[in-house]
Amino acid sequence: MVLSRRDFLWQTGAGLLLPLSVHAQGTGSTRFRHGVASGDPLADRVILWTRVTPPTVLVAAAPPVDVRWTIATDPALARVVASGNVRTSADRDFTVKVDAAGLEPGATYYYAFTAAGERSVVGRTRTLPPAGATRVRLALAACSNYPAGFFHAYGRIAARDDLDAVVHLGDYIYEYENGYFGDGTELGRIPQPNQEIVSLADYRLRYSVYRTDPDLQEAHRQHPFIVVWDDHELADNASREGAVNHQPDTEGTWAARKAAAYRAYLEWLPIREQAGPDIRLYRSFRFGTLADLVMLDTRALRDLQVSPNDLAALERSSRSMLGSAQERWLHEQLRASARAETAWRLLGQQVIFSRLSPPGRAVGTSDPWDGYPATRDRILDLLETERIRDVAILSGDIHSAWGNDIPRNPWSGYAPRNGAGSLAVEFVTPAVSSSPLFWDGRAEERAAALMQNVPSVRYMDGGSNGYTVVDITPDRLQADWYFVGNVWARAAIRPYAWKKPAG
Ligand SMILES: [Fe+2]
Repeated sequence: MVLSRRDFLWQTGAGLLLPLSVHAQGTGSTRFRHGVASGDPLADRVILWTRVTPPTVLVAAAPPVDVRWTIATDPALARVVASGNVRTSADRDFTVKVDAAGLEPGATYYYAFTAAGERSVVGRTRTLPPAGATRVRLALAACSNYPAGFFHAYGRIAARDDLDAVVHLGDYIYEYENGYFGDGTELGRIPQPNQEIVSLADYRLRYSVYRTDPDLQEAHRQHPFIVVWDDHELADNASREGAVNHQPDTEGTWAARKAAAYRAYLEWLPIREQAGPDIRLYRSFRFGTLADLVMLDTRALRDLQVSPNDLAALERSSRSMLGSAQERWLHEQLRASARAETAWRLLGQQVIFSRLSPPGRAVGTSDPWDGYPATRDRILDLLETERIRDVAILSGDIHSAWGNDIPRNPWSGYAPRNGAGSLAVEFVTPAVSSSPLFWDGRAEERAAALMQNVPSVRYMDGGSNGYTVVDITPDRLQADWYFVGNVWARAAIRPYAWKKPAG
């Protein structure tokens, strides 16, 4: 019998090559079955997360639990820099979230939790760098669909030692029953509850199943995550006003479902929470003087989609992708970043930003920014009139890898040869495991045709799963796409494959 890395992780709960293995208890733990996670790092603090598995399946009836947390500068947790106690209960599904402060910038820390006499695995995390830092590396991930395949991309991300953070651009879960969008029967990956998730209990259970995945747990254990949701953490093609996959007559009000999805998201993801019941996931991160990362919510605050053929409605200036408060905030963030002379501005967001249809024509789909051109034009106006340069847009959603220039019009006033006329660039990360955009065996042909039709698309792979690494120095910003092979095979069959951009 060949023991794959995945089997090994299941049996020992620890990665062989990593400095943490000596203290890892892994999935053998009965009280910390969902591992540990960290997220939303700042220069002096980071969110630490775990969940205490109640001793009964009747979660609502289980009593509150006291949890101790410790963060240290060494994997043995001997040099403790902060610690404390926190109580969790059924009210937050026994999840635990701590904002550990008083840390040094650009430093690696180790942390763990104890409860009921048991200790969690030891996690590793990292604060944002100080002013003057000259290198940042971010992994991008999106579209991790549990029944559709194994999370090899997360496993590869976990094994890397060169990342400052993982930026997750949404579709961290999918809301469907098994078989609707990916069938996990043969893989032993049936999402629970095995029905479309609608209630708070449904969303909580769905997160808890995803977080039993060893590759996802290990990625969370090794790196801080900066996350934002896309539609499937709510329901397909969600907006402020409803979703294509929400039927109020049988599934209750959209407001109630959105609130349940938001609550479970905040409970289960290592995200710093904003006060109040209103959905607010947009926030920013300062990587010293090297980069500002602005995370946008293009999902829950947008107007309802209109038909891709209804040009009058599409181009209405009042149509909003962000909502007015977030849009004002974004413009101010971009201005402030340029004023501070930060080297790079990154927009972490969900759906493809690039224009893919010529002006005045129907769009292919009105779900991404092509369906909200007025909001996009106002951003491009700002970049152009105020000469805000060195902007990279990081996107997910479309289950394919893209490297795009962002001219106002790819067919006029733009030179693909040297990028003249482009106001920004866009990097789109492929799906972790959702079926790739081009799944009919003609992926290369279709990518070539797409690049022919839209000259601002400089690189495109529509047939692979994987992740992206964005490597940033003061002088250049580079994206590398890493593909992971067959997500239906239990082990990734090749470490990664780097595909040479065509053309
Ligand atoms: Fe997706």
